[in-house]
Amino acid sequence: TSARLIVDADFAISDLDRRVFGTFVEHMGRCVYTGIFEPGHSTADENGFRQDVAELTRELGVTIVRYPGGNFLSGYNWEDGVGPKEQRPRRLDLAWFSTETNAFGTNEFIDWCRQVGVEPMFGVNLGTRGIDDARRFIEYCNHPGGTELSELRKSHGYDKPHDIKFWCLGNEMDGPWQIGAKTAVEYGRAAHETAKVMRWVDPSIELSACGSSNRDMATYARWEYEVLDHCFDHVDFISLHTYFMNPHDSTEEFLGNIELLDYFIKEVAAIADAVAANRRSQKRIMLSLDEWNVWYKARGHDDLRKPGWPEHPPLIEEVYNTEDALLIGGALITLLNNADRVKCACLAQLVNIIGPIMTEPGGPAWRQTIFHPFALTAKYARGRVLRTLATSGSFAGKTAEEMPYLISAVTEDESTGEVVIFALNRNLAEPMDLKVELRGFGGTREVTEALQVSHPNMKAVNTKDAPNTVAPAPIKSVGIENDALNARLMPGSWNVIVTK
Ligand code: AHR
Repeated sequence: TSARLIVDADFAISDLDRRVFGTFVEHMGRCVYTGIFEPGHSTADENGFRQDVAELTRELGVTIVRYPGGNFLSGYNWEDGVGPKEQRPRRLDLAWFSTETNAFGTNEFIDWCRQVGVEPMFGVNLGTRGIDDARRFIEYCNHPGGTELSELRKSHGYDKPHDIKFWCLGNEMDGPWQIGAKTAVEYGRAAHETAKVMRWVDPSIELSACGSSNRDMATYARWEYEVLDHCFDHVDFISLHTYFMNPHDSTEEFLGNIELLDYFIKEVAAIADAVAANRRSQKRIMLSLDEWNVWYKARGHDDLRKPGWPEHPPLIEEVYNTEDALLIGGALITLLNNADRVKCACLAQLVNIIGPIMTEPGGPAWRQTIFHPFALTAKYARGRVLRTLATSGSFAGKTAEEMPYLISAVTEDESTGEVVIFALNRNLAEPMDLKVELRGFGGTREVTEALQVSHPNMKAVNTKDAPNTVAPAPIKSVGIENDALNARLMPGSWNVIVTK
């Protein structure tokens, strides 16, 4: 099969906000405990932070990390996780039916973020708590000093404010599973008032309201409109959550989730703009896809909870395969192409829990298949996202009547001159001869890197003993002459081609 891509240096979608390369660390299962934090592990530093995981997080190219939940957030008392460790309470976590030891909390997370070089994103509990807790928490975190709570932070050893910029107003508040779930009116009002006072404490912050828990919620779309109708003036973002599934075990249908994500983004943007139009407002609410990933294999009752209120039991440790990596790569391309509205996104989660990184307690850490397209996109997608005109063959799928084989995006980093092509070949049977016309970039270009993620077996996985089964490999046939780039993309492959 063949495909053609035209790009012109004069036509850009938007600058790319690199916060789209975020991930998520929840107090759930083994994400915090034996994930990023495992005192006594052979690689742990004096804080108990696993350095093997810290190093892989850097390699993954993560920019921002959401914390502390998730469903966990809606029952969390932040005070439990600060101050002397021996005084911290053990509590029942009703989100995951586990015992939370609070050995790790806000200040440890900030230390971890600073060490790894990522920005923290925090949530405030709007399930069991509300406006008063939120104003106290942000005062503890961000106020320089001279008040009870900012001095409390100082007494805990943190003289400088944490300066946390990005705040989520609760989590999945429309979900009946949520501790303290709310109607759209209840939540919209709570989000409005909480956002208002949080910004009074620190005017420099950005605030994100909860959108629907997923696009299939019965209240989807009405929820977004109603919530934003209440809190439009005080928030900057609305969140989207999506977990891709493969109910019919069909790779082609599964890869149609790329279209579904695109519809979801465009629908939520349209709803936010409808709220703006109703107010004759030019303000544009941006989108934060603050939970997204493949998650369906580890979804049974045993995956979600274990009996006996255990401490950090293994939960939803999804093992990713080749087709998952293709979908994650394709979804990243969709995020790039929606860079004008999606300014933040968090792959959920970072480690062990539906994570690109896996660990064994006391043992090694390794990269799951989905690690690779994420790391390569985070490494190379910089600067502006360009408009593309793509033509390729297509197939009829359940998601859309015409699903193009080629899914692509192009970025340009004006500071380095790099123009990068991201391309997924959804033709699972045939290679794709891709021609790219790079118009208006000037100079002579060469290909400086060309990598593919693919494997003949769509169900191939990376394990502790075989961690590199699915890993990037060079694209064998790629070249550029003047402004024309030619590459042969393997059947069912995700590719990145860097030119300079
Ligand atoms: O990421 C796992 C869970 O999925 C989160 O806690 C929740 O927000 C979502 O339902």
